[in-house]
Amino acid sequence: MLVVLRALEREDLITLHKWQNDEEIMRLARSFPDHVISKEALETEFARELKGDDTGRRAYIIEEKSSNKPIGWATIRIHQFQRRVTTADVGLALGETTAWGKGYGTETANLLLDEVFRQLNLHRAEWWTYAENNVSVQLAKKLGFKEEARLRDAVFFDNRYHDLVVLGLLRQEFESIRTAPETSRDKTVSYLQSP
Ligand SMILES: CC(C)(COP(=O)(O)OP(=O)(O)OC[C@H]1O[C@@H](n2cnc3c(N)ncnc32)[C@H](O)[C@@H]1OP(=O)(O)O)[C@@H](O)C(=O)NCCC(=O)NCCS
Repeated sequence: MLVVLRALEREDLITLHKWQNDEEIMRLARSFPDHVISKEALETEFARELKGDDTGRRAYIIEEKSSNKPIGWATIRIHQFQRRVTTADVGLALGETTAWGKGYGTETANLLLDEVFRQLNLHRAEWWTYAENNVSVQLAKKLGFKEEARLRDAVFFDNRYHDLVVLGLLRQEFESIRTAPETSRDKTVSYLQSP
């Protein structure tokens, strides 16, 4: 295992503040380069997380297992506008750019999907990003997500509009990828474990 997902702690706010004031990280993570966030605003945003009151939203710190250092954050947001709970958005960002391209994102996303389907017992996972975030789109597709919608000109930054892409993964698709014989599976699926 490469990463561990753990709960947010108060001392993580300093690191989150650094990551969430980084224009590049925020553009990729949120599809909008909204990178001016005060510690106080962040603290307010995460107050419920820290208390664990909000059952519809789970936030994690991604830690590199070898060093125990925080390298990013991840979220699961259960859709609560439906009367039946079926769907959650998954999101992740490696705030430390030195951690990119080492398989950490793949493992983190798989851990989130494990939680969504095998612990929360949901039917569907969604992945949203802007169309030009190729790494994000490639990662989602590698995990089995299918592109389901393109919201044209849905976000504006850098003096122009950008499309948003919505990708979806159903539980049976996830399970069939997971239970496929090792030889026909993507290499990344082999190190799935709980944190
Ligand atoms: C997107 C992100 C989570 C991916 O994590 P990562 O650890 O860098 O990615 P991995 O090493 O696990 O690679 C996963 C896949 O992404 C794609 N990928 C990774 N780096 C890539 C690159 N430079 N160019 C194109 N595709 C790339 C590949 O499909 C790769 O699979 P492969 O190695 O089997 O070909 C990470 O780069 C990140 O945090 N980026 C900034 C925030 C962000 O974009 N979050 C997603 C918002 S929805």
